[in-house]
Amino acid sequence: MSNVVILGAQWGDEGKGKMVDLLAERFDVVVRYQGGHNAGHTVFVGEQKYILTLVPSGILRGKLAIIGNGLVINPEELIRQIEMLEAAGVDVAGHLAVSNRAHVIFPFHRMVEKMSEGRKGRTAIGTTSRGIGPCYEDKVARRGIRMADLVDENALPELFRSLAEDKAILARAFGIEEKLNFDAILEEYIGYGRRLKPLVCDTTHLLAKLRREGKRILFEGAQGTMLDIDHGTYPFVTSSNATAGGVCTGAGFPPTAIDGVIGVSKAYSTRVGAGPFPSEAPEQEADRIRNAGGEFGTVTGRPRRCGWFDVPLIRYTAAINGFDSLAITKLDVLDHLEEIKVCTGYRLGGRVIEEMPATCREMEDIEPVYEVLPGWQTSTAGARAWSDLPEKARSYLRFLENRTGVEIGSVSVGAERNQTILVEGSRLTELIGGTRL
Ligand code: GDP
Ligand code: IMO
Ligand code: MG
Repeated sequence: MSNVVILGAQWGDEGKGKMVDLLAERFDVVVRYQGGHNAGHTVFVGEQKYILTLVPSGILRGKLAIIGNGLVINPEELIRQIEMLEAAGVDVAGHLAVSNRAHVIFPFHRMVEKMSEGRKGRTAIGTTSRGIGPCYEDKVARRGIRMADLVDENALPELFRSLAEDKAILARAFGIEEKLNFDAILEEYIGYGRRLKPLVCDTTHLLAKLRREGKRILFEGAQGTMLDIDHGTYPFVTSSNATAGGVCTGAGFPPTAIDGVIGVSKAYSTRVGAGPFPSEAPEQEADRIRNAGGEFGTVTGRPRRCGWFDVPLIRYTAAINGFDSLAITKLDVLDHLEEIKVCTGYRLGGRVIEEMPATCREMEDIEPVYEVLPGWQTSTAGARAWSDLPEKARSYLRFLENRTGVEIGSVSVGAERNQTILVEGSRLTELIGGTRL
């Protein structure tokens, strides 16, 4: 087995960064396939904390990191990331490739986002304000500027002026024209293009070559399935396909070459930003989880909304992505609880439903059905094997496994690399080639 996808099974921030960093050891290449610097993937290497927003987490393991065509890239942020990594002693040159087909985020994308998020009468999504959505809008409208254009000093000015003109009309309509100096932006971006040019290439071609050479490729999802533009809680979603299908379009990688998909899920649920959240806990319960789990946004610092593990939701995300295995994270966050709720069913209009409603109106009306399991009230942070876990913690995990119908292949009990249990005999360990960490 060689090519594996790791992605979020919930609303993002499941601990993908930690899992990718851990499993990257077994792979040669790590690839991001969608999103942008709305992602915040936290990785601890000993005491050193890294927050990766664009560069795939595998770079920390000295692996080849690829930013695929499906991303939207803020070049200033990418350069900042590269400099941060280099300052920390990470070897970036020769280990990072950026797709020439990825789209470029400009300052006016943020401006457009602010206008639509702030406009009276429009429901705010609670975005990360990074210009992600408006950049994807330009991509789909076929007027976007791609990395191949950014690094082409002859072509960029004309393409830029054409796009900038559209935005100037918008800015005029909103009376904020003087705030954008298009000439200065162009000059700044020509500079970014020069700086990034050595990294930009045809990553689809590169991946095909690496695959032919038998290299093992790991795909790192950003956001989560419930934030997917097609399958998430629309319109409270991000603007890309975070789901497994996004790998094929966002990296130019064939579905027939993907050997397995691992879904990352917390042992409970969180969500940042607005939108339905059926198993959201009432304020006091949520506070306990938030404080124990440090549930504050990696990118924006916003408190994350907290709630209980949601079985129907994981069944839904497993069906979309075809999870071979679940990587459960943050089990230790539940250590102190006397009892733990699990949402095991949805009721809508007085009856139990099997499908995920398509509209947010219906999702908001869902009445979660809860079952209550006993807590273990013992620290799990030191557990390194399944048998080290308290019996009630094992029962809790078995319960999740039975109800979701997906095996649990790993259990994370802390943010550090070694605070992870790989379940022997699981499909996850088969996909990564064994239980040695
Ligand atoms: P990502 O976006 O999916 O990579 O996740 P984030 O990095 O945004 O958020 C996950 C947070 O949980 C980070 O601060 C991680 O360091 C932390 N974390 C990951 N796994 C565990 C775990 O098993 N236990 C605890 N306590 N923290 C964890
Ligand atoms: P990682 O990769 C959690 C959320 C935002 C907002 C919605 C749309 O770290 O899991 P956007 O800026 O993408 O247009 O915002 O999506 N969101 C995330 N929530 N983790 C993320 O990334 C997120 N990226 C976007 O809060 O609700
Ligand atoms: Mg995150």
